Amino acid sequence: MKNYLVTGAAGFIGANYLKYILAKHDDVRVVVLDLLTYAGYLGTIAGDVDNERCFFVKGDICDRPLLDRLFAEYKFDVVVNFAAESHVDRSIDNPQLFLQTNILGTQNLLDAARAAWVTGRDAQGYPTWRNGVRFHQVSTDEVYGSLGAEGFFTETTPLQPHSPYSASKTSADHFVCAYHDTYHMPVSITRCSNNYGPYQFPEKLIPLIINNILAGKPLPVYGKGENVRDWLYVEDHCKAIDLIIHKGRVGEVYNVGGHNEKQNIEIVKIICKELGKPESLITHVGDRKGHDMRYAIDPTKIHNELGWLPETKFEDGIKKTIQWYLDNREWWETIISGEYQNYYEKMYSNR
Ligand code: NAD
Ligand code: DAU
Repeated sequence: MKNYLVTGAAGFIGANYLKYILAKHDDVRVVVLDLLTYAGYLGTIAGDVDNERCFFVKGDICDRPLLDRLFAEYKFDVVVNFAAESHVDRSIDNPQLFLQTNILGTQNLLDAARAAWVTGRDAQGYPTWRNGVRFHQVSTDEVYGSLGAEGFFTETTPLQPHSPYSASKTSADHFVCAYHDTYHMPVSITRCSNNYGPYQFPEKLIPLIINNILAGKPLPVYGKGENVRDWLYVEDHCKAIDLIIHKGRVGEVYNVGGHNEKQNIEIVKIICKELGKPESLITHVGDRKGHDMRYAIDPTKIHNELGWLPETKFEDGIKKTIQWYLDNREWWETIISGEYQNYYEKMYSNR
C-alpha cells in the first residue's frame, strides 16, 4: 500500500484527481486534507471517503502540528499539493490570503514532509530520504506570465508572474525547487494550463457562463474577450500528475497542456450555441487589472519523456462538461447558495 496525502481534494482538480487514482490504483490509501474554504465542498467527495482507502480531515496546510500528527499516523509516501487559493480575481481583492495559503502553506507542507522523511545524511552532508517518497506540487502556467501572439511556454521560460495569485504560485514553486536543490528532497512540479470539467466552482469562466445561462443572467466577458487561454479537460491533467508521480524524474518541472488555445469570446459563444441561447446575452464588462493576454503550453517534455498526450478533444470535453452541469443542478445550486452571491454582487455589479 502507498499512503498519499492529497491536499485540497474537496476542490475542483483535487476531487477529480482523487476519484481518478482511487479507481486506477488498488494499492493507494489516501488522506484528503482540506480546509473547506468557499471553494471546497465535502459533498463532491463524500462518496469516495470510505474510511478504509480514503479518509477526510478538515484542516489547514498552514497548521504544522496537525501535519505532524497526520504524517506520524499515516506514514505518507506521497504528498500531492492541490490546496490553494486559486482565483485570480479574488487575489486582486485580497492578496494576503494568497501569500498565506499558497506560499506559507506550501513551505509548511515541505517542512512537515522533510521532518517525516529524512533518514540520515550522505557523505556530503545532504539529507538522505526514505525510499519511494515524493512531494508533488500542482502549479500553473500563470507563473510564466503572458505571451504575445506567437510562441509557447516551455519549462525554461523565465518566470514572470503578474497577478498576486500567480506571484504566490511562483514563490511556492521556488520553495519546492529550493528544497530539492538544498536538501535533495524528491520533488516534482506540474505547470498546467486552464482546466475545465465536472466540479469546477462557478466563479471560473466556463462554469460561470453555463451557470449564468441556466439562471437567465447576462454573460460577463472581460474587456474585448480577446484574451487567449489553453484549455485542458481536467481528467487529462489528473492523468499527467499520476504519470509524473509514478514515472517522472525527481527534481523536474513538467508543463501540461493540450494545444487548445481559444479566445474567451469564442468559449462563451460555443457555450451559447451548445445550450441554444442567443449571443446577445454576452455583456462586455470592465477588464481584469493586469489581465494576461495569452497562455499557451508547449507539452513536448511530458510527451517525449512519458508519452502523455491529452485524450479528450475540446469539442467533446465541453459537451460533456455542459451535460454534467445540466445533470448536476443540485451540486452547483448548493455551491452557489452561500458566499458566492455576495462575491458575485461585489465583483460584477458596476463593473
Ligand atoms: P479550487 O479553488 O477549486 O480548490 C482549492 C481547494 O483547496 C479547495 O477545496 C479549498 O477548500 C482548499 N484549500 C484552500 N486553502 C486551503 C488551506 N489553507 N488548507 C487546506 N485546504 C485549502 O482550485 P482548483 O482549480 O482545483 O486548483 C487546484 C490547484 O491546481 C491549485 O493549486 C491551482 O493553483 C492549480 N491549478 C489550477 C488550474 C485551473 O485551471 N483550475 C490550472 C493549473 C493549476
Ligand atoms: O492557467 C491556469 C489558471 O487558470 C489557474 O492557475 C487558475 O487557478 C485558474 O483560475 C485559471 O485562471 P484564469 O484567470 O485564466 O481563469 P478564469 O476562469 O478566472 O478566467 C479565464 C479567462 O476568462 C480570463 O482571461 C478572464 C476571463 N473571464 C473570467 C471570468 C470569471 C471573463 O471574461 N469573465 C469572467 O466572468
